[in-house]
Parts: sequence; structure tokens; C-alpha cells
Amino acid sequence: MSPLKSIYHWLNVRLGVDELVEKRLTGYLLPRSINAWYSLGSVLLVIFGIQVVTGILLLIYYVPDAEKAFKSVTYIMNDVHFGWLIRMCHAVGSNMMVAVLLLHMLSALFMGSHKSPRELNWVTGFILFNLVLGISLTGYLLPWSQLSFWATTVATNSAGAIPVIGQYLVEFLRGGKLVGPHTLGRFFAVHVVLLPLVIGALIGAHLFLLERIGVSTPPFGQKETKSTWQGDEFRHESHPGGIPFFPNYLLQDVTSILIYLAIFFCVVFFSPYIFFPPTAFVPADPFKTPAHIKPEWYFLANYQTLKVFPSELLGLMVQGAAMTFLALIPFIDRGKERHPLKRPLFLACFIGGIILFIGMTIWGHYS
Ligand code: HEM
Repeated sequence: MSPLKSIYHWLNVRLGVDELVEKRLTGYLLPRSINAWYSLGSVLLVIFGIQVVTGILLLIYYVPDAEKAFKSVTYIMNDVHFGWLIRMCHAVGSNMMVAVLLLHMLSALFMGSHKSPRELNWVTGFILFNLVLGISLTGYLLPWSQLSFWATTVATNSAGAIPVIGQYLVEFLRGGKLVGPHTLGRFFAVHVVLLPLVIGALIGAHLFLLERIGVSTPPFGQKETKSTWQGDEFRHESHPGGIPFFPNYLLQDVTSILIYLAIFFCVVFFSPYIFFPPTAFVPADPFKTPAHIKPEWYFLANYQTLKVFPSELLGLMVQGAAMTFLALIPFIDRGKERHPLKRPLFLACFIGGIILFIGMTIWGHYS
């Protein structure tokens, strides 16, 4: 036996590698009609991995102190070997993660994957989406630039419109009356420890749920199996006669991941400052309010909503209602039909929602 084969045999006796490969890879069957949209979850796993690795590397030189934070980031960009690359990957990656998350959510909605019995997949996913927005918001403050400082001032300010607890909440978030060194300390702890741990745990829960209930059959394309789920007892949705995860679907996953990486590195190398307005290169100055301060692109729709309503509280209530509606959508949209063309009301709301989001984002950008 060759040395490699004997190592494999040694491991096989102890871990049951053959059985694992058969159960989890070659014998793990997916619907024949599965499409590329189902690989966005794997793309998200890769993005999360890249964010964790680049984040750890940035921590080697970043200093979470209001006096030193901006200088430490400048040092990373100018003096540390490949520091600029690591920082750009982390900053561009956070924006790309939100974009891919939105696509993953839209594809789940379009194909009706959120429907019974996958309500929990949706709900864990929706919480994940909000946590990713939270980790982006807390990360925004860390470079301690004019942009960081004033964007955080505006974002935390809007919590003040909530009746009764509003002012207390603002001070709790900021660690004082104004954004300052205490805000940086708490945002840093939340950004590098709390949220990565919670997001990691929730991704685990999201994948566990997927593994228990099984991948859904897309509502279009070849139908090799019919769902056997009746709604009153647990049934794993299996796909006899489907395609194996390894090597067939893994190839699709790898293709999507490579396409993602190609786009990601194009932005990092050819247009790295696309997400950085000029105020991102000026150190924070609490006494100088910049003329234009805008949140990141994915918060522009929320920002504009707050502006169009006569009171900030009304704007916040509308946003809260929209988010609650989205979170609970599997419990509201309960029909069994999953084909988008056979759900005209859904399709109208789906297209209308996308147009509204894009429209408000563009309006927020130019307002
Ligand atoms: C860090 C964030 C996330 C990661 C890493 C992740 C990962 C995954 C993976 C690997 C799958 C299986 C393959 C696929 O269908 O793509 C999946 C499925 C699913 N995800 Fe996510 N996801 C995330 C966020 C979300 C969000 C924000 C939502 C919606 C609010 C969501 C809803 C779903 C649903 C409903 C499924 C089941 C798809 C089906 O079986 O048809 N996920 N996710």
C-alpha cells in the first residue's frame, strides 16, 4: 500500500471517511432542477470567511483608541506590506456581502423557499441579515474618519425619535451624550467579538435547519420528485434520482464562488475607492460638520424614508412595519403554490418592492 493510501486507511478506520463521503457528498442528492441561485448561500459562506480572516489581519495593526485609530488605519494603508489589500478586501467585502445577501433573500422569495416548512430558515436568515447590517454599521466607525464620526452621529441620532426610551437608547449606543472615545470602544467590542460570534452561531443554526428539512425543489424546471411534506409531522425532503452534491453541484458552487471572486477582485484592484467618499480620508473632527454626509448605499433607502415623512418617528414606524412584514412573510404568504407566475399578487409586490428600494436609494443618493 502507498504511504498516502495507508494514511487514508488509518483515518478511515477511525473516522469512517468512506461513509461520510457517501452520506454527505456523493450520496447527498439534490433536485435535478436545482439552479445557480441556490449557490448564493455558499458564496455567502466564502464571503464571511474572507471577512473573518481579513478582519483578524487588520487587528494586528489597528488601534481602537480615538487618538490613534485614524493614524493606525493610515499606517495599514501606506506602510504595512499588502496592508492596503487586506483593508480594501475587508471594506469592499462588507459591501459585497450585503449585496449578495439581498440577492439570496430575493431568490428565496422568488422561488417560494421561505414557505412552509422552511419558515425557520427564513427567520434565522432574516436575523442574520440584520446582524450583518449591524456589523457593517459598527465597523464604519472604526477608522475614526470624518465619515465614520458623522455617519455614526446621524445613525445613532435617529434612535432618539423613539418615544420614552429614545434618548436613553442614544446615550446607551454612544456611551455618552455625543459620539466619542466611548462609542469607539463599544462599537469595537461589538464589531470584533460579539457580532462575529453571534453571526457564526446563527449561520450554524441556518445550515442545521437546512440539513434537517432538506433543500427545496425549485418551482420550475424538471420535476423528478414531489414534496412529501404534509404539514403535520416532520419529513426530511429528500430527492431520490437527483444529482449528487459531489461532484455535480459542488462544481456549480465553485463556479459561482469564482464568478463572485472575479467581480470582487475587479472592484478591489480597479475601483477600490468606489465605497469611499472624500470624507473617509479626513480624520474625525467633532467641531466640523461636513456639508454632505450620507450613509452607505444599503442604508440610503432608509435615510430617504426618514426624510420624506414629516416626523422622524413616523419614518421609523414605517420602516419598522416594513421590516416586521418581511420578517414574518412566511407566516403571511401561506399559499402552497411556489411558482412565481402563479402568484400574481406576490409578483406585483415583489417587483414593486424592488423598484421602491432602488428608487429610494437613487433619490437618497442625489437628495
Ligand atoms: C450570512 C448569511 C447567510 C448565509 C451564510 C446563508 C447560507 C445559506 C446556505 C449555504 C443555504 C443552502 C443553499 C442555498 O439555498 O443557497 C441557504 C439556504 C436558505 N437561506 Fe440562507 N444564508 C444566509 C442568509 C440568509 C438570509 C438573509 C435569508 C432570508 C432572509 C436566508 C434564507 C434562506 C432560505 C429560505 C434558505 C432555504 C433555501 C431552500 O432550501 O430552497 N438566508 N442559506
